[in-house]
Amino acid sequence: MSRFAEPQDPDFASINRSLDVDQRLWPYDIAQSRAHSRMLAAQGILSNEDRDAIHAGLDAVEAELRDGSFPFREDDEDIHMAIERRLTEIAGPVGGRLHTARSRNDQVATDVALFVREAAIESVERVEELMAAVLDAAEAHLDWPLPGYTHLQRAQPVYLGHHLLAYVWMLQRDRERLQFVGTQVRDLPLGAGALAGVNFDTDRRMVADELGFSGVAPNSLDAVANRDFILDFLAAASTCATHLSRLGAELVLWSSEEFGFVVLADAWTSGSSIMPQKKNPDAAELLRAKAPRIVGHLSALHGVLHALPLTYNKDLQEDKVHLFDAVDTLRLCLAAAAGMVRSASFKRDRMAQAASDELIAATDIADLLVKRGMPFREAHGIVARLVRASVESGRKLSEFTREELLGHSAELDDEARGLLVQESWLESKISEGGTALPRVREQLARARALLA
Ligand code: ARG
Repeated sequence: MSRFAEPQDPDFASINRSLDVDQRLWPYDIAQSRAHSRMLAAQGILSNEDRDAIHAGLDAVEAELRDGSFPFREDDEDIHMAIERRLTEIAGPVGGRLHTARSRNDQVATDVALFVREAAIESVERVEELMAAVLDAAEAHLDWPLPGYTHLQRAQPVYLGHHLLAYVWMLQRDRERLQFVGTQVRDLPLGAGALAGVNFDTDRRMVADELGFSGVAPNSLDAVANRDFILDFLAAASTCATHLSRLGAELVLWSSEEFGFVVLADAWTSGSSIMPQKKNPDAAELLRAKAPRIVGHLSALHGVLHALPLTYNKDLQEDKVHLFDAVDTLRLCLAAAAGMVRSASFKRDRMAQAASDELIAATDIADLLVKRGMPFREAHGIVARLVRASVESGRKLSEFTREELLGHSAELDDEARGLLVQESWLESKISEGGTALPRVREQLARARALLA
């Protein structure tokens, strides 16, 4: 006999049902139920006999879920109800004892915390794999010059090793943010009951130990209402995906005919259905486009949680669709980024040629004048006029005669002319973190140590 006289409206059943999304929580749900029933028996709340019958039943249910033979039903609302229903079919009425001293509210919070813990660990590993791929590429192309850009205009030359290492530091921060997520799922929600605690003398520490939590959530209301750890994961994932979108954007640009700095492996590109000559950097483009999708999930969960009164509200059921898609999307993006970087072939000549534009030496010449005592603004003005003369006459700076240069400023002597050699622009950047080769080697060693 149910409290309800009328059956559910089919559309209510549909909007209320979360099984399609939360099915994948089953391994955590089974693990939790084992720990919970073991604790109930240890506390004398459940007989050992009932515990054993429940465990045998859970084994059978788990086997069905694992091999895909689990008979889901149209009226299974979510994975928790489906597992309990099936357990009772297999083990008999004793299955109904499993939910003693537990609510779906603390149950689902616990399953999701377990899921997030694993997702964070796995994401950290994948970030580390990508870091290793980028590090290897940086080391292999340590001293290959290319233009460094601001405003997507050639600014100053840098080494490719230096450029690639920039991504390693972004990823290192992503790694730290994802590691932080792990600290946010240390406390076990289970035992909070529906919201107020339970009417049994449970041993939450015992459950926490078995499930790998280092403590128990200290407030039952917070335990069932808290989804901060999902926000934390989504925030870390958003920033990471945003970094990958910048990498993707550069790979798209660099693999274009216009740049020609890199050729992506065939395995990471697609052809055109109509233009036979084309090789499209789809995966790199998708790195750009997937990031806002993950950021959207973060924003959506903020929307779900915003102004939500304590404690559990059905709104919280909408946490998982955002979490799961973000986990899956980030996993794919990290794998694609690592795959593309590992198999990319960089084009030394094209990059060097692009970095050979003598106008890039402008800052260096200005700095020389400053070192001789001229105020920077004045030096900047002299060199700016020189650059203009070069652009307007269509002649390279090195084609200017000695007299022409001296005509611009008495300071533009032979030493200044010497700065028109590409190598001098790179090796002059000797400050810590700069692009001079000894500094890049230093940086590479620091980055390597992070992964050791
Ligand atoms: N499917 C629900 C969720 O994901 C489980 C908790 C339901 N609790 C409740 N009191 N109806 O949030």
